[in-house]
Amino acid sequence: MPEISKRGRDMPASPIRKLTPFAEQAKKEGKKVYHLNIGQPDIETPEIMLNALKNIDFTIWAYTPSEGIASYREKLAAYYNKLNYRIAPTDILVTNGGSEALTIAVQSCLSPGDEIIIPEPFYANYNGFVCAADAVVRPILSYIETGFALPPIAEFEKLITDRTRAIAICNPNNPTGYLYSREELESLKALCLKYDLYLFADEAYREFCYDSNTFVSPMHLDGLEQHVVIIDTVSKRYSACGARIGCLITKNKELYHTALKFAQTRLSPSLEGQIAAEAAIDTPDSYFEAVSKEYTARRNTLVEGLNKIEGVFCAVPGGAFYVVAKLPIDNADKFCQWILEEFSYNNETVMMAPATGFYSTPNVGINQVRLAYVLKQEDLRNALACLEKALKAYPGRISI
Ligand SMILES: Cc1ncc(COP(=O)(O)O)c(C=O)c1O
Repeated sequence: MPEISKRGRDMPASPIRKLTPFAEQAKKEGKKVYHLNIGQPDIETPEIMLNALKNIDFTIWAYTPSEGIASYREKLAAYYNKLNYRIAPTDILVTNGGSEALTIAVQSCLSPGDEIIIPEPFYANYNGFVCAADAVVRPILSYIETGFALPPIAEFEKLITDRTRAIAICNPNNPTGYLYSREELESLKALCLKYDLYLFADEAYREFCYDSNTFVSPMHLDGLEQHVVIIDTVSKRYSACGARIGCLITKNKELYHTALKFAQTRLSPSLEGQIAAEAAIDTPDSYFEAVSKEYTARRNTLVEGLNKIEGVFCAVPGGAFYVVAKLPIDNADKFCQWILEEFSYNNETVMMAPATGFYSTPNVGINQVRLAYVLKQEDLRNALACLEKALKAYPGRISI
């Protein structure tokens, strides 16, 4: 048999999906499974976006420009400028999802052996994007006790070597829900300028900020224009994960032209995705107001419910739709499998993501899980009741 590449062998599998066979088995046995494990929202996609898709009238399903359709980039620039990003359409490269924007950003900025510092826990696929570039993730721990705030800058400095090229943040954060403050971003700005590093900001959850917290982007900071790379996507903003449209934004022209070369090798982002995404920009504010209200209520239900369970702790996150909670258990990987395989309450069970998949430091977060509040409140309440019973019955319970 021909050999698999070293990079192929090193490529990590998705930790979020590894419990899927156990959930499928539970369903075969007739159990209802509450999926708190993945970030697929149940919110309806804006009608305006779906209508654009239904009304498509092209006669040739053609390639589009590699950088994206001009009219879409113009409307996108106007959307960002309403948020005070101060960018031009020519700073935007439309991609096949935020995932491709991340791939291109990493490929364009990091050479083999180069290092990128990322506060952990972090979105697990960052490992895959960095591995595909033969580069190295240097994780820096953030802690549940502080709600996963940005670690002190002195801790970042300890990790900086002559191979460090970039710092990546996800704001608001997946998996922690933490929303970075202006002060935290200012401190990252000073660090990136001091060591001449790129700052990648993954803003997939920008629209999901609660409690009248203001969202701050590195695009709002003066003097960092050559260092900032924004990663964005329509997946979460419009509950349109299947559209596969995202973008990379940079004001650094050399980087933009490099990124465009990678974009040219995949020829074009999807035509119908861009048509729908362009229409989505006219989504009325009332859509976002309703969504934000719904997620705030869900977050409150989940966070209050979790903290009421004996031995469970989670902070109140300021954004996104995830929480990381600490459970009174020996091992979250074992517990998340056990609850699917061996436990049910009213013939129901819960699927969660063990937080170990979001840490790259070994043996950290072993008693933590990530929960996505992408279900209706009633389902969240049922899932919480099930979790409470399961924690009482679990043989590996540890008293805190
Ligand atoms: C933080 C973060 N970045 C990027 C992505 C990828 O998004 P897309 O669907 O646009 O590829 C996700 C998807 O869940 C995400 O959570």
